[in-house]
Amino acid sequence: MKLRSLMLTVLLTVAVSYYVYTPLPAGLQEQWKLMALDAGFRTTIHLATVSHWLGLDHYITSIRKSIEGFEGLTKALVSSESSGGVIPGVKVSDITFSGVPVRVYEPPAGGEGHLRRGLMFFHGGGWALGSGKKGTYDTINRIVSDELNTVVVSVDYRLFPEVHFPAPYLDCLSAAKHFLSSNVLRKFSVDPERVAVSGDSAGGNLAAAVAQEIATDDSVLVKFSVQALIYPPLQAVDFHTPSYVQNQNVPILPRPLMVQFWLQYLHADPALLPQLLANNHSTPELRSRLDWTAFLPPRYQQDHPRPPVAPPHSAPSLLKAIPALLDVRAAPLLAAPQVLAKCPRAYVLTCEYDVLRDDGLMYARRLKEAGVAVTSDHLENGFHGCFSFISWPLEFSVGHEAVRHYVSWLQNNL
Ligand SMILES: *[C@@H]1O[C@H](CO)[C@@H](O)[C@H](O)[C@H]1NC(C)=O
Repeated sequence: MKLRSLMLTVLLTVAVSYYVYTPLPAGLQEQWKLMALDAGFRTTIHLATVSHWLGLDHYITSIRKSIEGFEGLTKALVSSESSGGVIPGVKVSDITFSGVPVRVYEPPAGGEGHLRRGLMFFHGGGWALGSGKKGTYDTINRIVSDELNTVVVSVDYRLFPEVHFPAPYLDCLSAAKHFLSSNVLRKFSVDPERVAVSGDSAGGNLAAAVAQEIATDDSVLVKFSVQALIYPPLQAVDFHTPSYVQNQNVPILPRPLMVQFWLQYLHADPALLPQLLANNHSTPELRSRLDWTAFLPPRYQQDHPRPPVAPPHSAPSLLKAIPALLDVRAAPLLAAPQVLAKCPRAYVLTCEYDVLRDDGLMYARRLKEAGVAVTSDHLENGFHGCFSFISWPLEFSVGHEAVRHYVSWLQNNL
């Protein structure tokens, strides 16, 4: 009996380790924690797929429920010990800007008549997950509001599967125009010369796209003064950039998952996934608009195989099937130099172990070439998503580093 239970334990341990263990690049720290996080993500996605298949729930709805359950549980555990990161002086209100739900964080009053900084934040989550007022986004926005004396507006734009592009972008744009209107800035005592737009991951994509539109729209009088982009996806033309290839299996955003997020956002047939993974949509003409051999540092090009370009017959039909692939509002990296030249000063955070690393590096380079002042901040130990892992139990030192860099750049530049 004893032997049998011992054997069972050994077998179970082996099975669990096999499931959890993923070989990771040596440069990543806290490897077991990252593997556990990745196993949790994979399990959530697998269970959601099964429940979708059984017709119980849309898989995105199941993933949202799991994340909420997890956040509720950790919040209950944390708040029994401490206040759980809530900063007492920051005033929080859930309101709408032009019909779009937003959460506004106002710093403790700094004397009558004092103007404060402003920052509009778009959360990440593949245009499908996440919330502007929950989880670590809530914590980070409170920190920014308190430490930088900033009115932070976190936008709950609509998500997939409820909507597709361009709805999330248009929600963010409406909220941004509302915030930048002079009576709203006055109402919140925000200095019109010091308003940022910012976001992480899919939110960084929206921030870059909204920044371009605001910068070039003459009817908008107050402009964003800076943009802060945390590992944004910025193009869907080439899924074989050196970073897409190098990090294709790195948690928590493997290459097929990022391509799936793009297909969902752009309202494309999910069955096109293998075609896009094969770059079958990527024509030589398109590639010439986004030639990474011209934009990436040599260290990322050495030994990198030339990416596949589309066979002549498949690309035009794919581009016809997914016209938004070429829409700059979805892919801000494709913008013309004249548009980039008008964009606000930029902070672009990239992580070495991230399929989106080269999107960020190329955008920083293109903005610089257009004459925009850019801080390109590269985390050598970073992985995609680390910015939102700063609270127990999903806490990584590189996550704290990312948030510190972001806050101190805003401190010095906003
Ligand atoms: C890419 O396109 C070629 C030519 O049209 C086709 O033979 C190939 O099967 C496609 N690849 C995928 C993964 O669909």
